[in-house]
Amino acid sequence: MAKRPNSPQWVDNAVFYEVYPQSFYDTNGDGIGDLPGIIEKLDYIKSLHVNAIWLNPCFVSPMRDAGYDIADFYKVDPRYGTNQDMKKLFKEAHKRGIHVILDLVVGHTSIDHPWFKESAQQKENKFSNWYIWTKGIWSCFNDNKWNSRLIHGYGSRDGSFLPNFFWSQPALNFGFATQDAPWQLPVDHPACLAVREEMKKIMRFWLDMGADGFRVDMAGSIIRNDPDHKEKIRFWQEVRGMINKDYPEAFLVSEWSSPDIALKAGFHADFLHWFPEHNDLFRLEGWKKSEWPQNKGKHSYFRKEGKGDITRFLGVVSAAMKKVDGHGYMSIPIDNHDMPRLNMDRDEIDLEIAHAFLLTMPGIPFLYYGDEIGMRQLEGDYLPIKEGCYPPRNGSRTPMQWTKGKNFGFSKCKPNQTYLPMDPDPNAPNVNEQEKRPDSLLNRIRKLVELHANEKGLAAYAEFIPIYAEKNKYPLIFMRVNDERKILVIINPSKKAYNVSIKLPHEIGDVEILNEIGKISIHQTFGSKDAQVKVSGCSYCICSI
Ligand code: BGC
Repeated sequence: MAKRPNSPQWVDNAVFYEVYPQSFYDTNGDGIGDLPGIIEKLDYIKSLHVNAIWLNPCFVSPMRDAGYDIADFYKVDPRYGTNQDMKKLFKEAHKRGIHVILDLVVGHTSIDHPWFKESAQQKENKFSNWYIWTKGIWSCFNDNKWNSRLIHGYGSRDGSFLPNFFWSQPALNFGFATQDAPWQLPVDHPACLAVREEMKKIMRFWLDMGADGFRVDMAGSIIRNDPDHKEKIRFWQEVRGMINKDYPEAFLVSEWSSPDIALKAGFHADFLHWFPEHNDLFRLEGWKKSEWPQNKGKHSYFRKEGKGDITRFLGVVSAAMKKVDGHGYMSIPIDNHDMPRLNMDRDEIDLEIAHAFLLTMPGIPFLYYGDEIGMRQLEGDYLPIKEGCYPPRNGSRTPMQWTKGKNFGFSKCKPNQTYLPMDPDPNAPNVNEQEKRPDSLLNRIRKLVELHANEKGLAAYAEFIPIYAEKNKYPLIFMRVNDERKILVIINPSKKAYNVSIKLPHEIGDVEILNEIGKISIHQTFGSKDAQVKVSGCSYCICSI
């Protein structure tokens, strides 16, 4: 039986909604979404039955990476509003039972951050060692390990700096677990300790204001030369100690994609998405124009063609699950602001089936804004590459579609002034239209989220038992089980019907259908654990048995 890890109770059946602030709702007509816009839409967010929001970075930034390049960790960027607006967002969200976690960009800043500007000075100062610099610009030119990763010739300092992501995101210096060059500082160097303390101070600042935790960006990127992750784990455990002591209701989720390490380090959950088999679910065909050559001829599992294979993905997940059981959670999102959206040539039924999967898998589901109405992955030359959103990121970050008509109700600005272009199809999905249609994707996803939020058998920690998950075959059948409930999930994204024999861990009791589409029947031979499952094309069923 799966063990409930030590994490805040509100997380047990939580569903998060990821809000990309610049693309959500604009209240001042500048074409960019803002915090007052999110506050105005809180009732809508509440109506989705989610109980938490993950807000992408909205701090002062030159926006070379859409805010993941921070220039002041303590201040909301004016384009989004003020710190007072943030405080109000926390308060209004809490009134509605919604928690808000912020994005903590821990591993780097922008080159425009005053700390970096100081650090790049020739003259030694307090911040000289807050970033990773070689001693002398020429010293690493013959070093294969580091040279290709260093930025040479920036500013007046005679040294090269190490970026963490784009060139304009210099890595903060958390130190090197072992040093193989004199410019590499040990983790207990006073400057590295000062960086650690500053990060904790930043966390305290927002938690004290009302934040409910953090999604930690590139959480594994701190501390170099640390192959067994010992020093990283030590730092994050220190952070978790602070959270346990002073903010026991706060939640920490890492972007690490190594749940066994991240949970050992003290995160309550880790996103598991940067692994190739994740693409097997939704993305093997790539998106139309920019098809990934390595995926040629392969098929996603969640496609009507029914040619996919679920076993590679489940192999990775099951292996990870064995390691994390009882220590925390994994979150396997369908998509997010870094990936193409789920809707690449999929219809409402396909999208609903994918969400039935998202909302019944173990761990904590994160729903990406706009997916609840089936916003499309956009592509084409008309999409600018803005603020580092190289494709497919530009096509998945376009503004939310609220109503039909001008800018889909996102902003009152001129049509060509929205943050990114709106979907050019005037009939693209929008919230208003789907509110009116009882069986719209929006309303069907609401039901699925509501089920997840209230069903103990779907709690993040409920055990996951694969029942029918065969190579190149459909449907996928699994159970979610805890002390109180036994949930059976049958998912058939293929348009073909199937009839399969399964063996259950126990006899079926009363079957209660909790949600379904299509036709599914289960026949169990009296007194045995064998059953026959018949599914129609494009169907799913979630039932308690
Ligand atoms: C974020 C990206 C960002 C990068 C650098 C990622 O993991 O999700 O959007 O560009 O970190 O901060």
